Amino acid sequence: MGDTIISEEPSRRRFLATASGLVALGAAPTLAKDAGASDPKNLPPNVADWSRALGDGVVSKPYGVPSKFEQHVVRRDVEWLTASRESSVSFTPIHALDGIITPNGLCFERHHSGVAEIDPQDYRLMVHGLVERPMLFTLDDLKRFPRVNRIHFLECAANSGMEWRGAQLNGCQYTHGMVHCVEYTGVPLRYLLDEAGLKSNAKWVLAEGGDAAAMTRSIPLSKILDDCLVAYRMNGEMLRPENGYPVRLVVPGWEGNMWVKWLRRLKIGDEPWETREETSKYTDLLPDGKARKHTFVMDAKSIITAPSPQTPVRTKGFTVISGLAWSGRGKVKRVDVSLDGGRNWREARIDGLVLDKACVRFYATIDWNGEPLLLQSRAIDDTGYVQPTKDALRKIRGVNSIYHNNGIQTYSVRPDGEVENVEVS
Ligand code: MTE
Ligand code: CO
Repeated sequence: MGDTIISEEPSRRRFLATASGLVALGAAPTLAKDAGASDPKNLPPNVADWSRALGDGVVSKPYGVPSKFEQHVVRRDVEWLTASRESSVSFTPIHALDGIITPNGLCFERHHSGVAEIDPQDYRLMVHGLVERPMLFTLDDLKRFPRVNRIHFLECAANSGMEWRGAQLNGCQYTHGMVHCVEYTGVPLRYLLDEAGLKSNAKWVLAEGGDAAAMTRSIPLSKILDDCLVAYRMNGEMLRPENGYPVRLVVPGWEGNMWVKWLRRLKIGDEPWETREETSKYTDLLPDGKARKHTFVMDAKSIITAPSPQTPVRTKGFTVISGLAWSGRGKVKRVDVSLDGGRNWREARIDGLVLDKACVRFYATIDWNGEPLLLQSRAIDDTGYVQPTKDALRKIRGVNSIYHNNGIQTYSVRPDGEVENVEVS
């Protein structure tokens, strides 16, 4: 089984010869998969319906939306997971996306008290504490600072958290969909702190959200000065309300909870505040009863997004395995794929941008003859860290954890092409 990953550069001849879903030009055009068309009268050589009449004019939709045939590609939630929708989570449909950028309308949302609706005219960012000059910035003030564009992943620390005790949810949207990767436009936080003037004993920053949860997290000043942003745009347009409009904190590579949305206040201090979100929550209970705290960095992780339970294999022959990988410690250096539950590994092809603390997209092509597979992927980052198996992780962390589950995912691919979330040991 381990030998069936093939070259990533298939010749056209080999591709047509093995891909059962294609009809070669020159072959009888109404054969094979044409039978699956929803209306055969739209197929060549007939003139299709959409060629017979004028279509909608420009601005028929002032803000464009995807094709009606893509309506299944949406954020979803798991109803039993949380008691209310205000303190809940929706998941990115990563099984239905490609490349590394998450479209704004599909970015997973995590709110502890619902979406705050903030009038940008009334928006203020307060900077106070151990500074020479406490400041209030308006949104326009922030836009007058030199700005930068950065592509980063955001992963909730609780992503895959339901899987600690075994495979539970069937679909990478649910097991791994608390991640998104977008281009942020914003101001390096150190510019704002320069303006306020840090006192010499400044060591920590408390970030507070303007939502009803007043989400508060302590962040080491060294991280804030290194690469944190105060962002107001995502993928070119202003932040969406659910992602923190008009301003959120960007804390590259660190757990999503620290990326405070609807950012209201930054207090500079000399020690962490030990808020609820860094004591009772976002700590990791170990088997000996002690808890790890300040587990800020998201370790390297990868997930095959297709084939996956929501994206089964439709035909035998050439099949593209595709997935996402990321590391909070730097760049993803390599991604490996296994077809036999981790016994044999092959290097996948990373295509597109490879950026610091951002997702990469990987591919591996197989010539699938219908034999059962145990698909896995593992990420290796530029620190040399290798994504661990779930068993290896449990040996150290036990099963009382919720957060920071970056274990290797296994999919069982059955002869009929259906895919299931399973575990191997
Ligand atoms: N900021 C505020 N003010 N309130 C919140 O509830 N949720 C946090 C973080 N920032 C939260 C917040 C959590 S747990 C995560 S994972 C990320 O926002 C989710 O960001 P997103 O909704 O843009 O995906
Ligand atoms: Co979170």
